[in-house]
Amino acid sequence: MSQGTEKSTHFGYKTVEADQKADMVAGVFHSVAAKYDIMNDVMSFGIHRMWKRFTIESSGARPGMKVLDLAGGTGDLTAKFSHLVGDRGQVTLADINDSMLKVGREKLRDKGIVGNVNYVQANAEALPFPDNHFDIITIAFGLRNVTDKDAAIRSMLRVLKPGGKLLILEFSKPKHDLMRKIYDLYSFKIMPKMGALITQDADSYAYLAESIRMHPDQETLKGMMVEAGFEQVDYTNMTDGIVALHKGYKF
Ligand SMILES: C[S@@+](CC[C@H](N)C(=O)[O-])C[C@H]1O[C@@H](n2cnc3c(N)ncnc32)[C@H](O)[C@@H]1O
Repeated sequence: MSQGTEKSTHFGYKTVEADQKADMVAGVFHSVAAKYDIMNDVMSFGIHRMWKRFTIESSGARPGMKVLDLAGGTGDLTAKFSHLVGDRGQVTLADINDSMLKVGREKLRDKGIVGNVNYVQANAEALPFPDNHFDIITIAFGLRNVTDKDAAIRSMLRVLKPGGKLLILEFSKPKHDLMRKIYDLYSFKIMPKMGALITQDADSYAYLAESIRMHPDQETLKGMMVEAGFEQVDYTNMTDGIVALHKGYKF
């Protein structure tokens, strides 16, 4: 799938200069941060919880491990990992957007999750962590917002320990035509209206629908992971492929 010319990229269906995209994505997440969690539940009918649960179960997180929840936003995965890795482990919630990090930090503090979580503002394309550092990296619904996805995947490979695992949870391509039609109707006609009603922000939810359509499909993303150097790369479709969980190892 084309990512535009060298200097251009996609922001939803718009072609923009590559160096403008990060600011435009930042605008979306500054705008939705306060209502992000409630909108996730409303828009996905709560199904995002099931997708995230499957991701956690697939991670193999154990006490003492170091986990990076990249583009972790409001910290749903971080909260679960914090319990699994325990006092001897460490979870790093990294996100480029300080509004999302702030909501995440307050939510986790309110849940009493403090000891083994740290918060880092970082761009996935150039992670500020040492080589071979994490046992597990997750990026949930984050990769499609990143301008240079290949650079981000390479950066994740660098900071993973040998034997470490990357899990990419992301919207993908439904397998069946009927599902695709229903999904298109829902995301282009209904979702922006719900966004307008609840957050007074139809544009951010139109971007959501468009960015999902522009994201590499299952096989393309698998190829990108292999190309970056991940091994044993595979994926599991969920909800007919509306969402896929890609998994790969560094050896
Ligand atoms: C849809 S939210 C997902 C949040 C959380 N992972 C979840 O599943 O609920 C996408 C997140 O990606 C972050 N993000 C976008 N571009 C990024 C980048 N280049 N590096 C790191 N985080 C980024 C956004 O700030 C936002 O918090």
